[in-house]
Amino acid sequence: MVNRDAFARVNYEVPGLGEDEVAGSPLAQFAHWLDEAVAAEVKEPNAMALATSGPAGPAVRVVLAKAVAADGVVFYTNLESAKAAEIRHDPRVALNFAWLPLHRQVRMTGTAAPVSRREVQAYFDTRPRGARIAAWASPQSRALTGRDQLDGLVHSAGARFPDDPVPVPDHWGGYRVTVSAIEFWQGQPSRLHDRLVFRARRPGAALDDAEAWEITRLAP
Ligand SMILES: Cc1cc2nc3c(=O)[nH]c(=O)nc-3n(C[C@H](O)[C@H](O)[C@H](O)COP(=O)(O)O)c2cc1C
Repeated sequence: MVNRDAFARVNYEVPGLGEDEVAGSPLAQFAHWLDEAVAAEVKEPNAMALATSGPAGPAVRVVLAKAVAADGVVFYTNLESAKAAEIRHDPRVALNFAWLPLHRQVRMTGTAAPVSRREVQAYFDTRPRGARIAAWASPQSRALTGRDQLDGLVHSAGARFPDDPVPVPDHWGGYRVTVSAIEFWQGQPSRLHDRLVFRARRPGAALDDAEAWEITRLAP
């Protein structure tokens, strides 16, 4: 039996999000809410669900956004993982930042494209050594015979690169999601939530360009 307390109803008694107070650009609004998530000590506020669609259907998992800027949202991963194969199949993706202690979510749809190898290298070099070795060691999304096999792969990768710098594996990289729509969702009492969606007026609109987006309110 699952714990029934987990299903307790939460009423969202917090200020709403009105057209008169939302920022002019999606990036400014995202930055404002992200600041508030940090201030509220939301754990890993850069964590986002990433939805993809592959030949076998949809899939969703959490990844960490490493940049949110005018040109999109960047995350890093194994380029031979299930998600990477799905993105190659269909580069259209959806993202969801859920800041539940604030009764907020930010939903995005867009298109993922690989970031340059130069950018991957610059980010890879900032990772702790353990994470750089893990990028070599872990055949992400593939079956393992047991934890021992993973430990062995980590050991071998560490022995292969005993000294820094550790090169970036060819099978590891990042994606930038060019956003075409971004919705700011604020929970409100009686399930009458505020939903303001910015839709790009043209493909590739910069997230910091207030003129490039049309704002629509959606029913909750
Ligand atoms: C909080 C959190 C952060 C994560 N961040 C990443 C990430 O940045 N990159 C990544 O490849 N996987 C990350 N993962 C693991 C993914 O959710 C997933 O298990 C992994 O990428 C394999 O997904 P796939 O088989 O669909 O490709 C994270 C998981 C959690 C819970």
